[in-house]
Amino acid sequence: TFLAVLAVLISYVVGAIPAAAWVARTRGVDILKVGSGNSGSTNVLRTLGKGPAIVVAIFDILKGALAIWLARALGLDAPMQAACGVAAVIGHNFSPFLNFKGGKGVATTFGTICALLPVAGLGFFLMGITTVWLTRFVSAGSILGALTGAFTAYLLGAPLWLSLVVSALAALIVWQHRENIRKLHAGNERRFGEKVGGEK
Ligand code: G3P
Repeated sequence: TFLAVLAVLISYVVGAIPAAAWVARTRGVDILKVGSGNSGSTNVLRTLGKGPAIVVAIFDILKGALAIWLARALGLDAPMQAACGVAAVIGHNFSPFLNFKGGKGVATTFGTICALLPVAGLGFFLMGITTVWLTRFVSAGSILGALTGAFTAYLLGAPLWLSLVVSALAALIVWQHRENIRKLHAGNERRFGEKVGGEK
């Protein structure tokens, strides 16, 4: 159990590394104050461009996967592995390095789910990119992708506890997108690839 607590703590701290905010800072940009104000690769894409956005996306996905791999390397059981993934997502969304602000947890949740239950990760990915491609709304792709990941877990008969964990992660993603959902309703959500200067 000492190992388990340690793994969860390490996962939280690794998840908390705010790649988007720190990459933006090297370019003199405060990511919390531009575009959507979110510390995530979508906001990096619209304020800094493709290269930095890809770096941030890969890093944030790896944070989730690394948490699971660490737990596995320490010999922890599957539920403890999942707890480490959840800890990484919580760290990303509520980062002590950003006064407990952060991102919406899409990439880190995706990395976690891919490592825990790859087939649910595939459902997440396919629904996510299809939605972004059709609507040009990353937020809509994130929400529908995450929900599809959860449905895939139930449909393919994953253990109930694991389906519930994936559902909880999807629910957290929906909650983190409440501002985006408001904007989608109001018709002023930003589209994929739209460049943004300084407004929030
Ligand atoms: O991953 C977050 C994405 O779904 C939305 O980001 O910056 O448009 O709120 P953003």
